[in-house]
Amino acid sequence: MAAKEYGLYVDGKWTDASSKDRLDTINPATGEVLARFPKATREDTRSAIEAAKRAYPSWAATPAPRRGEILLEAARILRRRKKELSELVTKEMGKVLPEGAGDVQEAIDFYEYIAGEGRRLLGETTTSELKSKFAMWVRRPKGAVGLITPWNFPIAIPSWKTGAALVAGNTCVFKPASTTPLCAAALVEVLEEAGLPPGVLNLVTGDGSVVGREIAENPAVAHVSFTGGTTAGRDVYTRAAGLLKSVELEMGGKNPQIVLDDANLDLALDGVLWGAFGTSGQRCTATSRLIVHERVYDELVARLADRLRTFAVGNPLESATQMGPVHSEDQLATVEKYVKIGLTEDKAKLLSGGKRLTGGAYDKGFFYAPTIFEARHGMRITKEEIFGPVLSVLKVRDFDEAVRVANDVEYGLSSSIYTRNVNHAFRAIEALDTGITYVNAPTIGAEVHLPFGGTKNTGNGGREAGTTAVDEFTEQKAVFVDYSDRLQRAQIDKE
Ligand code: UN1
Repeated sequence: MAAKEYGLYVDGKWTDASSKDRLDTINPATGEVLARFPKATREDTRSAIEAAKRAYPSWAATPAPRRGEILLEAARILRRRKKELSELVTKEMGKVLPEGAGDVQEAIDFYEYIAGEGRRLLGETTTSELKSKFAMWVRRPKGAVGLITPWNFPIAIPSWKTGAALVAGNTCVFKPASTTPLCAAALVEVLEEAGLPPGVLNLVTGDGSVVGREIAENPAVAHVSFTGGTTAGRDVYTRAAGLLKSVELEMGGKNPQIVLDDANLDLALDGVLWGAFGTSGQRCTATSRLIVHERVYDELVARLADRLRTFAVGNPLESATQMGPVHSEDQLATVEKYVKIGLTEDKAKLLSGGKRLTGGAYDKGFFYAPTIFEARHGMRITKEEIFGPVLSVLKVRDFDEAVRVANDVEYGLSSSIYTRNVNHAFRAIEALDTGITYVNAPTIGAEVHLPFGGTKNTGNGGREAGTTAVDEFTEQKAVFVDYSDRLQRAQIDKE
C-alpha cells in the first residue's frame, strides 16, 4: 500500500508546500514507511506565520472560557480515539504500546487540566500607595507563537505547548520533529474537529534548519517554545535573541537515581529498570546514572545484570515486549558512538548489552540491547546525554558523595533517591540541583499539574505545565485606575 501523502496545515486547510521535497515517516521497529510529508521551505513557513498573525486578533478576543471548551472537547476526542492514537504513537515513535497509550493519556490529562485555565487566567488585585487608586495586573496573550517539539513524546509534548498557548489566546505555528509528523497531524485533526478556527494552529513539517530557523528569525513570531536537543535549542535561542524574543527551552538531562544502603532494593531495582529502559531511555527524564552506596553496590549490580538477562526487547506492539527499538538510525548511531566511547576512551566495564540486536525481525528495525556500564564519575558516558538505553552505575561512599556526584553534570532535569531515612530524603530534596526530584520512585513520570523543567543547561529557567503553564504564553500587564480626579504622583504624593 502506498504511503499516504500529507500537506501542510495552514489557515485551516491542508495545502501543498512550495517544494516537492518530501520526508518519509517510518516505523522504527519494521522500517515500514507510514506516510509522506512535505519539507516546507522558509516561504511556506512565512505563509503559516502570516496565517497565525491574521487569526490572532479574533482568537485573542474570543472569551477564554470558550477557548478552554475547545480544549476540553479535544480531550474528549482524544479519549474516544485513544486506542488508535496509542498505536500510532507506538508505530511512529517506537515506544511500547502501554507507553504509547501513556503519551496520549498525558495529552488528555493536560487538555482537561488546562481547559479550566479558561476560567482562571488569574492576575492579582493589590493595594495602591495612593488614595482612590486601584491596582491590579492582568494577563494578555503574546501573539503568534512558534512551537517546536521533539519525537520522544509526539502527542504529549505538543499538547502541553498547544494547550497552554491556545487557552491563553495565542495563535500557533507548530513544527514537530521531522520523524513524527503523523502524530502531529493527528493532534491537529483532533483540535480542528474540536472547533479550533482556521489559522489559529498551523502545522509546518520539515527540517529544523529551515522551518525552525524561520520561526526563530521571523519578527512576527512573538515567542518560541522549544523542546529538543541542546544544539538545536541553543541555535533557536541565539537566533531569536537578535530579535529580543522570549524563548523557552527544555533540553537535555543526565538524570541520576541514588540508592542508599537502607533502600528497599527490590523497589530500587524495579525503579531503575523502568527509569533507564522505559522508552528505550529516550526521555529527557530517563535515568542514565545509577549512583549506589558501596554497602549495597555489589548486590544491586549483580541483581541488575540478572534481571537484564530476561529483558524482552522486540516489537513494541506486542504485549510481552518490555523495550522497543530506538527511534531512528541517527539515534542508533549516537548510542553506538557512546558505547564505543565507554569501551575505548572511558574504559568502563561493560556489564550487559553493548551491541545492536540483529537477526530475524531485529534486522528490519533499530534495536539495541539494554546496556549497563560500571563506570567512574567523570567518564564521558557519565557526563554527556546519550538519549538511549545506556546506564552507567557508579559506586559512592556515602550520602554526601552521592549528592555531589549527582549534581556534578551540566544538566538538571530530574533526580531520584531511594532511602527509608526521612532525613536523607529531605536533605536530598534540598540539595539535588534539578527541577524534579523523586523519593522512592524513578526519575521518569512527571504529572501534568506540576511544573516541568530543569536547572542549568537543561533549559533557560522556564517551566512548562503545572499551575504556571500559562506564564510562558502571557504578558503580565500592570493596570492602575486613579479615581481621585486629581493628579497623584507615585512615590511623591504619598501622605
Ligand atoms: C520528556 O522526555 O521530555 O516525566 C518528557 C516524564 C514524562 C514526560 C517526559 N511525563 O517522564
